[in-house]
Amino acid sequence: MNIAILGLGTIGSGVYELLKANQDINVKRVLDIRAWMDIMTTDLSDITGDSDIDAVVETMGGLHPAYEYALSCINSGKSFITANKYLVSEYGRELAAAAKTHHAAFLFSAACGGGIPYLSNLAKARSTDKIKELGGILNGTTNYILDKMHTSGESYDAALAEAQKLGYAERDPSSDVDGLDTQRKLALACGVGVGRFIKPADIPTFGIRNISRDDIMYASKQNAVIRLAAYARFGADATEAFVIPRMFKQGSAESSIRLNLNYAWYTGEQTGIFAFSGQGAGRFPTAANIIRDLYAVKRGETALYPEQLAQINVSTDEKYSFYIRLPFGKETLPEAAIKEKLSASDSMRFITEPMTVSQASQIREAIPDSFIMLI
Ligand code: HSE
Repeated sequence: MNIAILGLGTIGSGVYELLKANQDINVKRVLDIRAWMDIMTTDLSDITGDSDIDAVVETMGGLHPAYEYALSCINSGKSFITANKYLVSEYGRELAAAAKTHHAAFLFSAACGGGIPYLSNLAKARSTDKIKELGGILNGTTNYILDKMHTSGESYDAALAEAQKLGYAERDPSSDVDGLDTQRKLALACGVGVGRFIKPADIPTFGIRNISRDDIMYASKQNAVIRLAAYARFGADATEAFVIPRMFKQGSAESSIRLNLNYAWYTGEQTGIFAFSGQGAGRFPTAANIIRDLYAVKRGETALYPEQLAQINVSTDEKYSFYIRLPFGKETLPEAAIKEKLSASDSMRFITEPMTVSQASQIREAIPDSFIMLI
């Protein structure tokens, strides 16, 4: 099998390295603006016009020109493998339709869970079971930061800098710490798991940007750790989905997920819960998942999404209690929303009466430097 790689950054160069000694898959071309090897090009038509190239691996990231390049490759009959969750969560339906028209494969296992074969197993589970719920810890960068803050007392900034150095963070790490990376991965899992295509921006999402030592200490005193968790539940008509920092008791599966590890699970009606944990980010684990997709193409697998992929809206009727910390001097919460006032230090902290995730989102929008988590 001959392939091309689009983008020789952290993940793309990992794929290139791992395939150097591979007898089954040959890297014939690499597209990158920094062309320095003879197989490299800056011209996509060297790839789309080459009938010897069977599949294209996209590791450029971003939406544009990744989307236009993806369409050109698929329209010229190439199978398309990507780790780009931003691209798939925004344009997955268009790319899946184009792949079907052109009898090309469109796979993206590495776009959710880094090195973990989560989406590929979720797709298999969907064909024999009804997926009721799914979620997990889907971002390595934020898990690394939270784990370091809990276990080594590191500051948020120091832990984030380490995660960047280790190659876990996105080029713009705000998409990690604001929860957007997790939001996109959750949207992909909903599409693959139940054929419900959710626009990422519709998923209520809370990040960890404003977390402080106070919040970590509060969780520790409750014998719990904070993790950034994705969650989706599929009713007959309604779909609940959100991304939020959440407290998990010591001894729970989530509490044992350390450093950049991910924990991705689903619950099937027949099988109950299945969980996968492993390297959720990083060069070689992610590259290995891409290569698993290439072998899937060799075996004749063509799609992760089901044939029917309906765009749906998220509903948020369920009520939960939240921990909310507001910066000192900021407006307080309405009395009716407060279940408990926690002792004040340099900020005001509350446990709320049950409210919907949308109501919690409204508080965050009104006071953007607040920290909100599910307890
Ligand atoms: N920035 C992502 C993470 C990379 O930290 O999980 C893997 O998708």
